[in-house]
Amino acid sequence: MKKKVVSIVLAATLGATLLAGCSGSAAPAAEAPAAEAPAQEEVKEEAAEVAEEASEAVEASGDLAGKKVGVCIYQFNDNFMTLFRTELESYLKELGFTDITIVDGANDQATQSGQIDNFIADGVDVLIINPVNSSSAATITDKVVGAGIPLVYINREPDEAEEQRWADNNWDVTYVGCDARQSGTMQGEIIADLGLDAIDFNKNGKIDYIMIEGDPENIDAQYRTEFSVKALTDAGLEVNELDDQVGMWDTTKGQELVANSLAQNGNDIEVVFCNNDAMALGALESIKAAGRTVGTDIYLVGVDALTEVVEDVINGSITGTVFNDHISQSHSAADAAANYLTGAGNEHYIGCDYVKVTTENAQSILDSLK
Ligand code: BGC
Repeated sequence: MKKKVVSIVLAATLGATLLAGCSGSAAPAAEAPAAEAPAQEEVKEEAAEVAEEASEAVEASGDLAGKKVGVCIYQFNDNFMTLFRTELESYLKELGFTDITIVDGANDQATQSGQIDNFIADGVDVLIINPVNSSSAATITDKVVGAGIPLVYINREPDEAEEQRWADNNWDVTYVGCDARQSGTMQGEIIADLGLDAIDFNKNGKIDYIMIEGDPENIDAQYRTEFSVKALTDAGLEVNELDDQVGMWDTTKGQELVANSLAQNGNDIEVVFCNNDAMALGALESIKAAGRTVGTDIYLVGVDALTEVVEDVINGSITGTVFNDHISQSHSAADAAANYLTGAGNEHYIGCDYVKVTTENAQSILDSLK
């Protein structure tokens, strides 16, 4: 399904992105009132133009075969980034790139910085970087821009001041990712929508929750932590935080932390928020081991929509998750790399929307992931 969609939309996407620069800069869809709908001839002409532009773009992509792409991933051992990396590689190939090198930063900034130096020495034409530490972005940017190489950051967003420098200096640097505030809000809404009566097992009038955070250096972890709870209070619910721990996006850590918290707080825990699905999978193991049942005496939400988690949402063992669209993000990142090489350029921020996943739409999300 994914592959089919990719090949059908490839030409159009290329045309559109090469023209518009990127999804982030694309003009909003025209909202012509019915009475002013364009004549059929006009529609046909426009369609012909789009097709022509798309085919020119595909021709231009022939040149991509001669270009070297370097990709730095913060850590291969990360469920979500593995999905992202796999899709990125296959889509780069679909665009026509043949010289693609992807390296594992092993969650160590010094290792990754050395890999970036090697890519520069090797004369790569474009770099796609998932930084180990977002706070190292300025140093990375200076190095890469200094070498005259366009740069696409993914997944870990550099701070505002850093993004502003790209615009101020008109550098070929962009960020592709989603706004983590949206994912946190969706997590909170999934819980709030259940209503206080269904959640408040201990009848203290509050939502008693624990928070399992990803890497606190990462803006995704900070925003998801803040905005999941904000969505509850915005819905008029009173909250009580029983525990807040750092699980570093990792299943085993998530499992250990939730086991400890359940041992300490027992039946008072009504909701377990995990900043990602990998940790939610660990949390689920501990919830089961403690004899608790999601949906009956506790609730659990994650982010990412890993296949196993979406299956768990369908069978009721996880309350919900939020789809972190690795397909759209990886395609936008590859398109952005191509846009720099063809001279089309990009905006400095290329966004993507999250999607709430509950029992209502989990099956269709699962189908779209296969
Ligand atoms: C994902 C996490 C992942 C992290 C890596 C987040 O957006 O939700 O699962 O571990 O990115 O930076």
